[in-house]
Amino acid sequence: MVEKTLAIIKPNAVRNGVAGKILAMWEEAEFSIRALKRVQLTQVQAAGFYAEHEGKPFFGGLLEFMTSGPVVLVVLEKENAILDNRTIMGATNPDNAAEGTIRKLYADSFTENAVHGSDSPTSAAREVSYFFNVFELTA
Ligand code: CMP
Repeated sequence: MVEKTLAIIKPNAVRNGVAGKILAMWEEAEFSIRALKRVQLTQVQAAGFYAEHEGKPFFGGLLEFMTSGPVVLVVLEKENAILDNRTIMGATNPDNAAEGTIRKLYADSFTENAVHGSDSPTSAAREVSYFFNVFELTA
């Protein structure tokens, strides 16, 4: 099934100047870039996005990091986009990420792990519509 998934190029990757290299990896893997924007998230926006992690010990550090600089928000589309993006991103903890994955190449730590990708169809629908309106998805 053709799916959309929400990806984020996180502040460490933007700061490190590898946003373009990450976008190229998605294109080489035949994802279509359906929407894209660079923004600096506010604390409120980041807290809403990561609401499921509220109360966890790493929540404060996660918000501090995600608001520390600009991110690039991307809607990717292809057959099985949600799972295929999880594969190309690699494990959340870069110590466990497979060779050749985005996180193996560009993560700096568990928190500064370069990219986010939706983990299920339900999350993808919520996350895409959290950041993009219908007019931004029609091109
Ligand atoms: P991501 O899955 O993109 O979104 C939630 C983030 O929280 C996750 O990436 C990690 O960067 C971070 N995270 C999850 N669990 C931990 C943890 N135990 N310690 C530090 N950071 C974590």
